[in-house]
Amino acid sequence: MMGEAAKAEPVGGSRQRFVACVADDVTREAVSRAVAQLGWANAKVRAGGLDAARRSIDITAPPALVLVDLSDAHEPLEGMHELQQLCGPSTRFLAIGSINDVSLYRQLVGLGVADYLVKPVSSEVLCEAFVAAMRSNAATNEARQTRLFAFIGARGGVGATTLAVSTAWLLAHEFRLRTALIDLDLHFGNLALSLDLEPGRGLREALENPDRTDSMLLASAMVTEGEKLPILATEESLEEQLLFDGGAVAPLLAALSQDYDCLVVDLPRSLDAMARQVIALADATVVVTDLSLSALRDAVRLVDLAKALEARGKPLLVANQVGADHRGEIGRPEFERGIGGALDHAVPFDVKAVVAAAHAGKAVADAAPGSKAAGEMRKLAARLAGRDEEKPRGGILARFKK
Ligand SMILES: Nc1ncnc2c1ncn2[C@@H]1O[C@H](COP(=O)(O)OP(=O)(O)O)[C@@H](O)[C@H]1O
Ligand SMILES: [Mg+2]
Repeated sequence: MMGEAAKAEPVGGSRQRFVACVADDVTREAVSRAVAQLGWANAKVRAGGLDAARRSIDITAPPALVLVDLSDAHEPLEGMHELQQLCGPSTRFLAIGSINDVSLYRQLVGLGVADYLVKPVSSEVLCEAFVAAMRSNAATNEARQTRLFAFIGARGGVGATTLAVSTAWLLAHEFRLRTALIDLDLHFGNLALSLDLEPGRGLREALENPDRTDSMLLASAMVTEGEKLPILATEESLEEQLLFDGGAVAPLLAALSQDYDCLVVDLPRSLDAMARQVIALADATVVVTDLSLSALRDAVRLVDLAKALEARGKPLLVANQVGADHRGEIGRPEFERGIGGALDHAVPFDVKAVVAAAHAGKAVADAAPGSKAAGEMRKLAARLAGRDEEKPRGGILARFKK
């Protein structure tokens, strides 16, 4: 136990690393004993609840772990959420209370609180809860290496959505990364349709209220089904003109990055402010093209745009439906001369695989895993998953939270 405790200590020099605000004397004493047992030096154990916690926390050096008594709180969830906002993502929270309420417990966990303990609690139980919370903190910090991938078609119908869906499916099921798919084409997006899912209502709400977006709200807005991917999509009326500014999308991605390792975004070709923002933030923008002359021109323009937006990641150029007679192909060598370099990947035209996927309401890589098309998609996904990279990339969270 001592070895474990030492490993799990909320380290950090002279900073207050543990703050507990507990209403009753008996529990407060148990907390003090637990802190002593763990040998935590920089701990502050106070009387009170949420208000005391707000007063005790130095937000310029937020503690690693906070235990708050919710027994006397009128609005425990709001209060907890406020406290989390105050401390930022590096602080882990534990709640304690006098009522055994499953729904409160679930909602707190949904907010990201590590656990909700019900009084009376022994110092042993508290020790275990503290160690577990610190360990899960390390785990979430690692998981925050969320990567953002944007997909955009050089031309309508080239297969940007098809590749986004299959890539996300492969990242989730073959590379075992927690992956969500987001369709930012609010009017014409067909991502939900391609997986045979009903788009929900939450995406628009989240974009309209960026200041209220949190991972709990989004978790309820995600649509999923069985083995399928969690998706965030919508189908808005064409009569309504929707103009969100670029700032609307960053809070959404930041909130999602708490729950996912990879976010795959299908972008509208209209290139609205949000799409530009996503390209700028993305670890990789995948420009999907066919081998036609008109797609060549626009693929080059999209690559230039990514550069102009000072995108973090170099855009990848992926040809799709290669070998389709009807798409006016100019041939790969000529195409590559036109783009002034080699294509990153080339996915063959494969009607059989695509039809199987459409019938099943699944990703191509799921419905026809042995097809050549799925094989190329797997190479793309491996590259994005960082399988052929030495250095892992930085998390996106830091970029959204200023
Ligand atoms: N590799 C492929 N082989 C055959 N058909 C494909 C391929 N990729 C996509 N398609 C088909 O092309 C059409 C357009 O694909 P979609 O992904 O919706 O394009 P986009 O999102 O670029 O508009 C769909 O009917 C899709 O099934
Ligand atoms: Mg599409």
